[in-house]
Amino acid sequence: MKRKLIAGNWKMNGSLAANTQLVQGVRAGLAQALEGKACDVAVCVPAPYLAQVAGLLGDSGVALGAQDVSAHEQGAYTGEVSAAMLRDFATRYAIVGHSERRQYHGETDDTVATKTQRALAAGITPIVCVGETLAERDAGRTEEVVKRQLAAVIHLNGHCISEIVVAYEPVWAIGTGKTATPEQAQAVHAVLRAQLKAATEHADRVHILYGGSMNAANAAELLAQPDIDGGLIGGAALKPTDFLSIIRAGAR
Ligand code: 13P
Repeated sequence: MKRKLIAGNWKMNGSLAANTQLVQGVRAGLAQALEGKACDVAVCVPAPYLAQVAGLLGDSGVALGAQDVSAHEQGAYTGEVSAAMLRDFATRYAIVGHSERRQYHGETDDTVATKTQRALAAGITPIVCVGETLAERDAGRTEEVVKRQLAAVIHLNGHCISEIVVAYEPVWAIGTGKTATPEQAQAVHAVLRAQLKAATEHADRVHILYGGSMNAANAAELLAQPDIDGGLIGGAALKPTDFLSIIRAGAR
């Protein structure tokens, strides 16, 4: 069985002082949380803090991630951060197409596909987010929506879809305290896995993460589902004890 991946998404939170406390807290408790078992761990931090957090993580084994990447390679794109720039800071992962970017920054499936391609070209693993809104779920459109979002990135130039990480994040569960039940999440993960299987023989290698109010109390049950390969954690990743509890739940 492949290792679980527990990735924190700090979103637009943190400061030099708070980041130091948070990373030191996670590092201090990591060995105890893992209890000799294995789990891949990452933190996706705001771009200005990449260098700081790279230094704080040091040789802890916790990987560094970004929360977005530009769809452009370089040039006159004020405010954008390119994949090559992320790579300069040893960034291993970049979240792409988070629902907050789709919702507040107008990112389309096409933009998400271009960003995914840029990350891969720079040697960064994109964590591509998919997920339905409450209205879409209520209308019985969950499957259609997540399949459309995944389809946009499934044919990659020169790369295999098995090189990406997928995160299923139902929009109605993000930051609301309303988690999808393990059964609801597993049902969607199974749909995504089937779609990956139709595209590549390596589909079982792909990590499909669940995100949306995952916390210390519900992580174990979610992570026990056959197609839930880890978590993308928002709020609970900002507290070392909560994040470590989720890592403990993911350690195998
Ligand atoms: P919460 O864990 O705060 O619900 O956020 C989930 C998320 O959006 C992670 O990317």
